[in-house]
Amino acid sequence: MCYFCSTIQALVGMNYTINIKDRSQVVVGSVAEWLPRLLPARRVVVVSDTNIDRHYHTLVGEFDHVLIGLGETSKTLHTLDAIYRRFIELGVDRSTFILAIGGGIVTDVAGFAASTFMRGLEFGFVSTSLLGQVDASVGGKNGVNVEGYKNMVGTFTQPRFVICDVSLLRTLSEREFRTGLAEMIKSAIIADEELFSMLEKADFATLQSDAELLQELVYRAISVKASIVERDERESGDRRLLNLGHTLAHAIEKCSSKFNHGEAVACGLHLIAEAACRKGVLAKDACDRITALLARAGFVLEPPVAMSQLLKAVKKDKKAEGDDIYIVLPKNIGSCTVEKMPVADFKKMF
Ligand code: GLY
Repeated sequence: MCYFCSTIQALVGMNYTINIKDRSQVVVGSVAEWLPRLLPARRVVVVSDTNIDRHYHTLVGEFDHVLIGLGETSKTLHTLDAIYRRFIELGVDRSTFILAIGGGIVTDVAGFAASTFMRGLEFGFVSTSLLGQVDASVGGKNGVNVEGYKNMVGTFTQPRFVICDVSLLRTLSEREFRTGLAEMIKSAIIADEELFSMLEKADFATLQSDAELLQELVYRAISVKASIVERDERESGDRRLLNLGHTLAHAIEKCSSKFNHGEAVACGLHLIAEAACRKGVLAKDACDRITALLARAGFVLEPPVAMSQLLKAVKKDKKAEGDDIYIVLPKNIGSCTVEKMPVADFKKMF
C-alpha cells in the first residue's frame, strides 16, 4: 500500500491524506469532519453550481455564494467574467478564501477564477463527483474551454486543500458515477496493477454504496496522480502519462456530444490499448483485460463518429506541438510510456 510513500502523509482510521508539493492537502474522508479543520479563519466565498447548492447549502450556508450554470457549456470565459463581476460586487479582496464545491467543471472554473482574480486568491475544493475526486480537482490544473478546445486557457495553481468524501457520491446518477470510473481505470493502467485487479473484482452495481471499498479505490487513484504531479507539476515530462487515452477522447468530445468526458476517455483507452497491441508495445492478454474491464463497467467502446473524422480533430488538440504529438502507450497493466511522434505517424496507428 505504501509504494507512493513520498506523498502519503498519514492514514488515520477511515481518512487518507496525501500531500502534493507541500502546498496541497488532499483528504479522502468526511467533509463534515475535515472542512472546519481546513478552512482558514478568514472570509470565505463559495463557488458552486445550482444543483450542488441544493444538496450542500446546509454545509456552507453562512458564506456568500457565487453559483454557475451546469455542464461543460458553463466552462467558458463568459462564466469566468460573471464570477469576476460577482466577486467585485461581493467585495472579494486578496484576503478572501475561495471554496469551490462541485464536480470537475466547478473546480476547474473556480480554481481559474481564484488563481487569477486580483492576481491570485487562495482556494480549496470540496469535490463532489467521482471524476473530480480521482482526477479534475487534484493536481492544480484549472481552466476553461475556448472555441470548443478543451481547457485551452488556464493555470497550474495548487488548491490549498481538496476534500474527497465518498458519501457525497451517493447522489450521483449511474452515468455520472461511471464517468469517474473511466479516470480510475486510466490511473490503474498507468501505475497501479493492484488497483486494476481490485476493479476487475469489484461489483460495479454496488460500488457506489460500499463506502469502505470506494474510499480505498479513490485513494489509490489519487495516489497515482499525486505521485506523478509530485515529480512533474507543470507537465513537461511524466505528467503527460495522465493523458492516457485523452488524445482521442478530446477528439471524440469535439466531434460529438453523445459521450461525456469519462465515456470519451473509456473509448480512448480502448482505442489506444488496441493500437499499442498492434504496434507490439502491449501484450494481447493485457489489451483484452483493459477492453474487458471497460466493457464490464458499461462503457460503449465504439467511437460515436468515424475514425477518419476523429483523427482529423487530433491535430488541433492543444497537446500537439507543431507537427508532433505526445502519445501515451500502455506497455502493461500498471506501466505506460510517452512517445513523441508526428501526428501523421499517430494516425497511421489506426
Ligand atoms: N487531468 C490530467 C492532469 O491533471 O494532468
